[in-house]
Amino acid sequence: MTLATPVSTDVATLNVDGATYELPIIEGTEGERAIDISRLRSSSGLITFDQGYANTGSTLSDITFINGEEGILRYRGYPIEVLAERSTFLETSYLVLHGELPTQEQLDAFTDRITRHSLIHEKIRRMYDAFPLDAHPMAVTSAVVGSLSAFYQDSLDPLDPEQVDISVFRLLAKLPTICAFAFKYAMGQPFNYPRNDLSYSENLLWMMFGVPTEEYRLSEANVRALDTLLILHADHEQNCSTSTMRMVGSSRANIYASAAAAIMALSGPLHGGANQAVLDMLEDIAAVEGSAKAFLEKTKDTNDTTRLMGFGHRVYKNFDPRATILKKHAHEVIEDLGYSPRLLEIALELEELALNDDYYVQRQLYPNVDFYSGIIYEALGVPENGSTPLFALGRMPGWIAHWREHHEEGGRLNRPRQIYTGETTRAYVPIEAR
Ligand code: SDX
Repeated sequence: MTLATPVSTDVATLNVDGATYELPIIEGTEGERAIDISRLRSSSGLITFDQGYANTGSTLSDITFINGEEGILRYRGYPIEVLAERSTFLETSYLVLHGELPTQEQLDAFTDRITRHSLIHEKIRRMYDAFPLDAHPMAVTSAVVGSLSAFYQDSLDPLDPEQVDISVFRLLAKLPTICAFAFKYAMGQPFNYPRNDLSYSENLLWMMFGVPTEEYRLSEANVRALDTLLILHADHEQNCSTSTMRMVGSSRANIYASAAAAIMALSGPLHGGANQAVLDMLEDIAAVEGSAKAFLEKTKDTNDTTRLMGFGHRVYKNFDPRATILKKHAHEVIEDLGYSPRLLEIALELEELALNDDYYVQRQLYPNVDFYSGIIYEALGVPENGSTPLFALGRMPGWIAHWREHHEEGGRLNRPRQIYTGETTRAYVPIEAR
């Protein structure tokens, strides 16, 4: 699948040291425009500088479109609101990976292949016994995903379409098992192996919550809530963990190694780890009656590093549409699951206070996907440190799609430049003279 070549609509003129350089301006299908600096250094000796890449496009991509000013998110052109309402996670995964919604026949074949790859090698199963019981499931999940490189040496070549194809199904199919085994190991409960008679989300709930002492009853509300959460996390263009997946993949490291790195990038509290940090924050506030307002004041104090976790976003300077969907669902899910609405009530109070506070309004800080997701995961019975592995599970189709897109587009090695600000040349001083 080749990317549409963006049209070059105009040129930017750069005047430096008396010389003039013309740089093409390219435009994407949604009207986004960029100055193409691919020839800047070779023609002028100059590079650009953009700490945190807030103004830098790293690639062309056909997968996901975000308009942060208007709060728009679309996977392959389909609005997230429609997919969350009408699709399933596997149908959305097919869309993100292949660019089109599947026919029933295509979806059945896709689902069947995933079902048949959900088991993991028994030697991988025994790896869990090596981990400390209190290991964070993100550390365990990343280590086990990375070990797939050692166990599936027949599918490591990123340039062999057949090897990529089988490794994609292995990753999508085995990740629920790997995450569920990590939860069960931490709880000291026996592992539940995947069942081929269950759907993707039903299987994940069974593997996480089933116990041998009684029959596990699947609730339609739980299955729908989990499937919707996974849909909402399926992709989000060039976020930190997806850029990591592309960065590692650009060295032609195999897909399992790239995914293990992406999982670790996601674990940080400024990124996917924020959903756990939100739960910690809400529980701290719940422990001290009526302290939502006091907490918010702390987040505005420049001498205090406290942040309102789940708020703010590098791209969304308006509502994150995923947070809007989750907020709407949270009430009904929590009622259906018979979960205490206490944390949700504190989250709603915090949101109300922040949205009417100049500090947050001036900085265009709104709730992001992590502000409500952790509450719903907890209502499903997921342990607090389990919400980020489930973020990784939802994001896997997006990571894979971007990794493949990188290679399909010629896959140059990603290697940014820098501006050196250290010591200039110095003479070596013998140790006796130092
Ligand atoms: C995800 O990129 C993606 O697409 C990510 C994601 C995905 O789907 O992949 O959407 C998932 O990671 C969502 C973000 C989850 N992280 C959090 O909720 C952590 C809390 N938020 C922040 O730390 C922050 O908002 C970031 C990291 C998300 C974005 O940071 P930026 O763009 O670098 O902005 P910044 O840190 O420079 O903040 C700008 C200003 C600063 O104040 P001033 O220096 O102007 O005085 O806003 C303030 C910040 O102090 N600010 C906050 C704040 N977030 C930013 N102040 C209080 N609480 C916050 N949450």
